[in-house]
Amino acid sequence: MVMNAVVTHENHAEVLTFLREAVRDRRTVGAVAPSGRALAEVLTAPVRDRPAQPLTVLEVGAGTGSVTRALLGHMPTGSNLDIIEANPRFAARLRRLVDTRDPLTSAAATAEIHEMLLSRFATERRYDVIVSGLPMTNFEPGEVNDIMARLVELLHPEGTLTYFAYVGTRAARRLVSAPAQARRHDAVEAVLQAWRAAHTARRRTVWANLPPAHVWHLRSALRGLADRPAA
Ligand SMILES: C[S@@+](CC[C@H](N)C(=O)[O-])C[C@H]1O[C@@H](n2cnc3c(N)ncnc32)[C@H](O)[C@@H]1O
Repeated sequence: MVMNAVVTHENHAEVLTFLREAVRDRRTVGAVAPSGRALAEVLTAPVRDRPAQPLTVLEVGAGTGSVTRALLGHMPTGSNLDIIEANPRFAARLRRLVDTRDPLTSAAATAEIHEMLLSRFATERRYDVIVSGLPMTNFEPGEVNDIMARLVELLHPEGTLTYFAYVGTRAARRLVSAPAQARRHDAVEAVLQAWRAAHTARRRTVWANLPPAHVWHLRSALRGLADRPAA
């Protein structure tokens, strides 16, 4: 996995920072390498798929900023990006990334780092696009339900919520983890499945990432019905 990151990320310092934090706190970081470019492109597709009008965008669990960079590169002029990251070392990197970005992207969109847990984030804003990098399958089912409820609450009624999970982790956990861990993972998947069922959900699989990842894009089910052509 680290090999992949080294091959796809020119920035070795970023990969090392990520790995160091993953060793320090495996549960919360939930990966050993940042998302590669192909995964970042699919995660940020909802920004590109929208008309070129100012957007409110929220990224949760930004890590070292591989998805943040893709978001900043695609946001239409007049947009705003809020970035929530709980890890102080990642947050410091993200501040540098935002402060030293290309003048063209900084002119296009404002960006603010919120160094905190998602549960502490208070805002009246509603977002057109939310991208979550949170490692849901490392959490308890109740925590995941609370996270999804909060993300859906923060979403504009016509917005898109995107999250991802690595392919095969559930099967791997059944093979190598204690039965309680495998049961917890199954319960988390059931919670996520219920949220997908309550929305219009599209899944894409990104094989060009190590590990490969499933990406889910969720939109309001009512919006999905409105999108359908009249019979
Ligand atoms: C799997 S990493 C994803 C990093 C990045 N988005 C990427 O794709 O490379 C998960 C990130 O979520 C952060 N995180 C985990 N739980 C969080 C929470 N409750 N609130 C905010 N950030 C959290 C971790 O510190 C970590 O940076």
